[in-house]
Amino acid sequence: MKVLVIGSGGREHSLVQKLNGSKRVKKVFAAPGNGGMENEATCVPIKETEIGDLVRFAKEEQITWTIVGPEVPLLAGIVNAFQEAGLKVFGPTQEAALIEGSKDFAKAFMKKYSIPTADYQTFTKVEEAKAYIREKGAPIVIKADGLAAGKGVIVALQEEEALRAVENMLVDNQFGDAGSKVVVEEFLDGKEFSLMAFVNGEHVYPLTPARDHKRAFDGDKGPNTGGMGAFAPIPDLDPSQVQLAIERILKPAAKGLVQEGRSFTGILYAGLIETAEGPKVIEFNARLGDPETQVVLPLLENDIIQVVEDVTAKKDPKLTWTEGFCLGTVVAAQGYPGAYEKGKPIPKLDTVDTNCFVVHAGTTKDGEQLVSNGGRVLLIGSVAASLEESQRDNQRLLQCFGTSKDFFYRTDIGFPK
Ligand code: AMP
Ligand code: GLY
Repeated sequence: MKVLVIGSGGREHSLVQKLNGSKRVKKVFAAPGNGGMENEATCVPIKETEIGDLVRFAKEEQITWTIVGPEVPLLAGIVNAFQEAGLKVFGPTQEAALIEGSKDFAKAFMKKYSIPTADYQTFTKVEEAKAYIREKGAPIVIKADGLAAGKGVIVALQEEEALRAVENMLVDNQFGDAGSKVVVEEFLDGKEFSLMAFVNGEHVYPLTPARDHKRAFDGDKGPNTGGMGAFAPIPDLDPSQVQLAIERILKPAAKGLVQEGRSFTGILYAGLIETAEGPKVIEFNARLGDPETQVVLPLLENDIIQVVEDVTAKKDPKLTWTEGFCLGTVVAAQGYPGAYEKGKPIPKLDTVDTNCFVVHAGTTKDGEQLVSNGGRVLLIGSVAASLEESQRDNQRLLQCFGTSKDFFYRTDIGFPK
């Protein structure tokens, strides 16, 4: 069969690699894809939001399955459009994806279905938000209601910072419409983990848990980013926490969405924090996590297309996982997550050991030369018997970037110093 992956980042390259490992897949397309995945997929120059063109392409090319990576097209209704056109597509409808698209909806939904999460209130008026912040005090967390490309969450350690954040969102329209409503939330303290699951209606099939590192620099210091690396599974995570997360969070969420008339099919992502009362939800996403996908899919032994078909048929895909660990380190453009330059040549990475892999995110071709084209450029990963070993593999490969002033990466993924 022919399969189309929608999106252009590392998560999508990772999906392409997994699909190429399927005996049932003859050809993989990516729209729009990126320069670094061109050897593994046919990249089609249609943007992820050009839904009409994507539907036309899938029909003309007789694509069997389309798999949607990012949240923006999901919330724009790409799954609805493909379904209306009679095409097979894996992902939630626009209605179901609202669990990611509106923090206010997600919080009210969790409250209604008793899903553990931080206490909160939603505001549209800045003075009311400020009064609430002054009453609660810092630390406190401010979240733009809508999609803000991972930048809409401010964990304010000082009251002043929280007051400024609501002013930026509600008065200065920092995030446009996405910030015209804000959620002000209790600060939770604990270790974080990401638990994703294949979901169809009330059926929930969890993936192995992963942890990402959001801070730019070693020691979990510096500004928040889209993620500087990740690993899976998590040795210090008690399996009972995972079980609680499945029973108290993922299953009730799937069931609740059905009851709300927003039945979810696709990957439901729970960003969780371990607390003394068990895991609590930080956020739900309606898609695979990035960079979690890049370290979870290499451990999945099943044929990914078979999994998609089983889940679609509400049949247990019986997920099995490679023994061992996968750890990945992101190489970013110097300056990221602030301003950075593009078009920097990427050193040759052809001495990849069999257990190591490269996943491209912000790369493009300049003639024959691969050059950077985004903040997070690529991820180097490895599957090994231990996290330590996997990290050593990463660092060995990363040496080819060693003296470059154009790129930087963390040296402590998995083991923050
Ligand atoms: P998000 O963009 O929702 O993933 O949030 C970004 C990061 O902010 C999370 O990974 C957490 O580290 C942090 N965060 C979000 N909500 C809370 C909270 N209620 N308490 C503490 N930290 C939080
Ligand atoms: N890694 C967090 C996310 O994908 O939103």
